[in-house]
Amino acid sequence: MRLSDCHNFHDFRRLAKQRLPGPIFNYIDGAADDEVTYRRNTSSFETCDLLPSVLRGVSDVDMSVTVMGQKLAMPVYCSPTALQRLFHHEGERAVAHAAGKFGTMFGVSSLGTISLEEARQISNGPQVYQFYFHRDRGLNREMMARAKQAGVQVMMLTVDSITGGNRERDKRTGFAIPFKLNLSGMAQFAVKPAWAINYFTHEKFRLPQLDSHVDMGSGTMSISRYFTEMLDPAMNWDDVADMVKIWGGQFCLKGIMTVEDARRAIDIGCTGIVLSNHGGRQLDGSRSGFDQLAEIVDAVGDRIDVMVDGGIQRGTHVLKALSLGAKAVGVGRYYLFPLAAAGQAGVERALLQMRTEIERGMKLMGAASVSELSAGNLRFRAS
Ligand code: LAC
Repeated sequence: MRLSDCHNFHDFRRLAKQRLPGPIFNYIDGAADDEVTYRRNTSSFETCDLLPSVLRGVSDVDMSVTVMGQKLAMPVYCSPTALQRLFHHEGERAVAHAAGKFGTMFGVSSLGTISLEEARQISNGPQVYQFYFHRDRGLNREMMARAKQAGVQVMMLTVDSITGGNRERDKRTGFAIPFKLNLSGMAQFAVKPAWAINYFTHEKFRLPQLDSHVDMGSGTMSISRYFTEMLDPAMNWDDVADMVKIWGGQFCLKGIMTVEDARRAIDIGCTGIVLSNHGGRQLDGSRSGFDQLAEIVDAVGDRIDVMVDGGIQRGTHVLKALSLGAKAVGVGRYYLFPLAAAGQAGVERALLQMRTEIERGMKLMGAASVSELSAGNLRFRAS
């Protein structure tokens, strides 16, 4: 299977699976507990159907959106995700380049494998900084100051991860950071020599956002342990209100799922929220962002930018979310499998396919611009 054989999410996933050592593929592909929420994220888009309007003369489509003060050429952005150079040696560099080419936003994670400063040099498009609130307040302050200094436009605080989700696939494979090989790990890597050669012939794996504070040299740490030991479970609304003040710019909370919390986000001065369950990787059994979208947009959509992520695999999924009032839609695995499969060329191909699907979908819906999509275009099925 080659990149040119990849026509959708499932094809990229298959190619990534061929190329990646098992523990890494399962880290990306896996989720918490029984992975119910992970599956629900995509299937929730099938609870409603699109209602097209015809004969509206749509020869050109404008799919640009403005979200948190950033103009995006397409309504889909690359959500910040961790450890990208482990998936492909180009890592975040590939994603930043691809996002820049497509005029959209991308994010660098606290657990990113290139520095947020380097990412800022690569793309001239808007950049999000995904922030984990650590027990070490000095580290938190330093991370914010660095992001400001580098010219990052949007702070995105993840609020659904004060403790680690139960990722059983990682438990089985022993997936940990930084990547160290034990004997059984070695066997898994020996069967994927191309990945191993790339990994070991490129610059050493690092976590430049954290490495001045976190000693990654002494032993390995699972992602779940990182969340549980390093992040502050006592983080509360007052802490975040202080962060919002210190940041003094576009600030959004990723992982908001209720109207009440959305209102609190507005009260403390946030400019955006992302309805998200962390790709089903944290609280299994939680509702999908898409299922919560209408309720939250109806309550607060005129006062804060509402975004959604989780399970988006198709242009029509994006159209459904936009119809319900999402200002933009985040994708994670949708670009990570292409990254793992083929680096920057893979991410670009995936974004191109997404853009093409959105354009085709908007034409078939009779919508020349995103503002022409509304809840009137959707019907939910009686369940
Ligand atoms: C994860 C974190 C690191 O879901 O975002 O693995």
